[in-house]
Amino acid sequence: MERARRLANRALLRRLLAAATAESPAAPSRGISTLAKGSRPRAPPRPAPHQYTTGRRPVSASALQPSDTFPRRHNSATPAEQAAMASECGFGTVDALIDATVPAAIRAPEMRFSGRFDAGFTESEMIEHMQRLAAMNRAYKSFIGMGYYNTHVPAVILRNLMENPAWYTQYTPYQAEIAQGRLESLLNYQTMVADLTGLPMSNASLLDEATAAAEAMAIGDVCGVLVQYPGTEGEVLDYAEFVRDAHAHGVKVVMATDLLALTSLRPPGEIGADIAVGSAQRFGVPMGYGGPHAAFLATSQEYKRLMPGRIIGVSVDSSGKPALRMAMQTREQHIRRDKATSNICTAQALLANMAAMYAVYHGPEGLKAIADRVHGLAGTFAHGLKKLGTVTVQELPFFDTVKVKVADANAIAQEACKNEMNLRVVDATTITVAFDETTTLEDVDKLFKVFNGGKPVNFTAESLVSEVSSSIPSSLVRKSPYLTHPIFNMYHTEHELLRYLHKLQSKDLSLCHSMIPLGSCTMKLNATVEMMPVTYPNFANMHPFAPTDQAAGYHEMFDDLGDLLCKITGFDSFSLQPNAGASGEYAGLMVIRAYHRARGDYHRDVCIIPVSAHGTNPASAAMCGMKIVAVGTDSKGNINIEELRKAAEANKDNLAALMVTYPSTHGVYEEGIDEICMIIHENGGQVYMDGANMNAQVGLTSPGFIGADVCHLNLHKTFCIPHGGGGPGMGPIGVKKHLAPFLPSHPVITTGGFPLPEKTDPLGTISAAPWGSALILPISYTYIAMMGSKGLTDASKIAILNANYMTKRLEKHYPVLFRGVNGTVAHEFIIDLRGFKTTAGIEPEDVAKRLMDYGFHAPTMSWPVPGTLMIEPTESESKAELDRFCDALISIREEIAEIESGKADVNNNVLKSAPHPPQLLMSDSWTKPYSREYAAFPAAWLRGAKFWPTTCRVDNVYGDRNLICTLQQGSQVAEEAAAATA
Ligand SMILES: *Cc1c(COP(=O)(O)O)cnc(C)c1O
Ligand SMILES: *[C@@H]1O[C@H](CO)[C@@H](O)[C@H](O)[C@H]1NC(C)=O
Repeated sequence: MERARRLANRALLRRLLAAATAESPAAPSRGISTLAKGSRPRAPPRPAPHQYTTGRRPVSASALQPSDTFPRRHNSATPAEQAAMASECGFGTVDALIDATVPAAIRAPEMRFSGRFDAGFTESEMIEHMQRLAAMNRAYKSFIGMGYYNTHVPAVILRNLMENPAWYTQYTPYQAEIAQGRLESLLNYQTMVADLTGLPMSNASLLDEATAAAEAMAIGDVCGVLVQYPGTEGEVLDYAEFVRDAHAHGVKVVMATDLLALTSLRPPGEIGADIAVGSAQRFGVPMGYGGPHAAFLATSQEYKRLMPGRIIGVSVDSSGKPALRMAMQTREQHIRRDKATSNICTAQALLANMAAMYAVYHGPEGLKAIADRVHGLAGTFAHGLKKLGTVTVQELPFFDTVKVKVADANAIAQEACKNEMNLRVVDATTITVAFDETTTLEDVDKLFKVFNGGKPVNFTAESLVSEVSSSIPSSLVRKSPYLTHPIFNMYHTEHELLRYLHKLQSKDLSLCHSMIPLGSCTMKLNATVEMMPVTYPNFANMHPFAPTDQAAGYHEMFDDLGDLLCKITGFDSFSLQPNAGASGEYAGLMVIRAYHRARGDYHRDVCIIPVSAHGTNPASAAMCGMKIVAVGTDSKGNINIEELRKAAEANKDNLAALMVTYPSTHGVYEEGIDEICMIIHENGGQVYMDGANMNAQVGLTSPGFIGADVCHLNLHKTFCIPHGGGGPGMGPIGVKKHLAPFLPSHPVITTGGFPLPEKTDPLGTISAAPWGSALILPISYTYIAMMGSKGLTDASKIAILNANYMTKRLEKHYPVLFRGVNGTVAHEFIIDLRGFKTTAGIEPEDVAKRLMDYGFHAPTMSWPVPGTLMIEPTESESKAELDRFCDALISIREEIAEIESGKADVNNNVLKSAPHPPQLLMSDSWTKPYSREYAAFPAAWLRGAKFWPTTCRVDNVYGDRNLICTLQQGSQVAEEAAAATA
């Protein structure tokens, strides 16, 4: 019996062993021939390990490498693909292509980082490291106020918008037909701001409250006055009389205000203010140690053409249906060059969307309830302090901030700190306490004890509530309704909001769908590990003016990031304050100005800018009060050096700076760049390099090495901060040693460059917060840290390789403008569509809209050369994706050829009628001269998964003529909303 079982077992074992050997590739296939080559059949049951005989194959060292290294996930081309692509470009290796492309004179020695940063972190090491940094921060409960408040980010918004790549990887909505979702959300934002401020129009966000205030003052034709309502120390004053007086003297009034307070207070528009500015941060956007947050600027239609930033407006599409788009794009301030009254380009779209969704989720009553609660807690606190009798409470009306006179403000602040609470010390005997959505009755009880010298009090906040009444005088109580549109009144449950978020998101093309090859905008991978720390509570919930010893994790990161950016750019010091590229340009030019002034050169105010420069360059120079001298380019797209020399010499007594982009905005490494820098220096000027094209420099050369004195980086381009549909961004500036003392500081918390020079003489302040939008710095930091020096250098090489590979494929079909001396391009290139206007009546816009039918976002259109497309693939797009995009453009070229040959009608063809949304294709009547099927599925890949544009082509001119930039009652969007509720 026992023996029989042993025999049976042995037989079973033999069968198992036979099955196990059948798994080896040499064994005959067992009816699974449909499996792809290289895939393995499912493993049969295995015998116990000790019964294996090993093959005695040595374990290779490379087999023990971690499985979660990052560079190969970011740099998409495999070594084999790289070799094949280099060879198609006519080069033996990628390095040979790079050598032929980047001029030898500017090739820097190999870039190396110190310590662990050189080899780079694996993904799991990075997460651990960031958790350690986060743990070094102590996110105490903040009562500091000053424009930053704790807020409950609704979890449905946190996960489905803030942490959702379908929202955060979108580009600025220039291509309206594939951006209707975020356009609607931004229209909601504008409506929310307009309703709450009582002014007719708002823009779709600005960088922060302080720059919004500065922008507002720049609008005023007669210099305006700026008042705060409520004030920073809490007081709510009646400005009606004051505004009447100012207007009587022809002076405009700007009011800095708070959206939550405006649910309860008479709004600026009703008081007569001309402009209202503020921050929407407390509407569900974390403080993030200073940003990013959406600021707003609301005003009357009178100023619509001077309004800084972007405005979303209602128009119609070619079928007559209402559709949204960015209004008056040609009005965008930075296109006005030296006539600009603002330089803002990237703003805070993602954060504006978060704030708008917060208002959509809470609705007018929900917001009012939050405001009443905040006001009630502040009132209870003030009442309790009066009861205590040991301190003096300011008697002025307040909304959320209570001002208290005490014997020793610092002692009280320290006692609060012991309880993990931060108060604001205004001066030695004054403290303010600001309440917000997250404050509880228990917090108020704790505060009573703090103000009672740490001794318990014999009442509770709760017991006082019935004795408290509002301090707001009836003349200042808001009576007018707001957020009455259905959109703010129908998505108050989580299911409803989830579906609304998803509905909008599905109308918008993002990096989740396809590459977005925007020249100069560097839309590369925004890796998940890079994004994760952004919502760690210990990064997100820090007040920017919290004592710095509570932010040790942040400061270790700032130090290391500053150091790494210095290595990458060849500079000596970095300021992390500017909140976008344009803000960096302004900061950099102000540094140059401060430097000249420190040397007694007050008269140096001439800034030379090539005509090919980005529009923000002259706009920033104009904002700095500089005189702009333009220089032209030669036929190859390079700066005309002789013209530059003449301009520099003619202005040598007053020359302040040159602003130059490198590689040039034409996508070429100019050979003459070192000569250009020399000419400027010889004539007393400083060289400002626009760092937007750093993706073609990192590890190969650097602004410092080339000879620039200062440069801004767009961390939201080269360093992986996602575009967010038009922001956030970060534009830190790097400088050479002689400029380091002049880097921006901050009046509340002293800052300077990283590393900080011995002597400082700061130019002033550039942003509201000391380290700008600190919350998104972990994205760039982790990118650099995971890539390591080699990964980053490879990224630049592959970005250049990808651009050259695409050029090679497309040059057979489209003329390619501008190349370097060896016939190669840098990291981006321009294809010329101008000829098609005469041969086929086709404009760049027609190609851009037809690309939507192929599931792609158009490249940069008509900049820097009108009538062209500028394509930038970046290193993180795979060869398959590059090929797909080239295939689409080649197929469109064939469609143009059909018009040229007369086979297709010149006015009525797939390009002119593009894009083709479902409602057009599936309408019962179809009168186009081509088939619906071809219109919808011009390429094979579209049949498996197609991204559908949601409107026909949007009419820009109509919208600008009938400017509507808030939700209208009874409008199409409203009707759709009403139909959804019915
Ligand atoms: C993007 C860009 C800017 C402006 O940067 P923002 O962050 O949008 O203000 C400036 N110069 C160039 C060349 C750019 O591509
Ligand atoms: C609380 O203490 C104060 C004096 O400190 C006293 O006047 C008051 O009656 C006490 N109230 C209660 C409810 O015990």
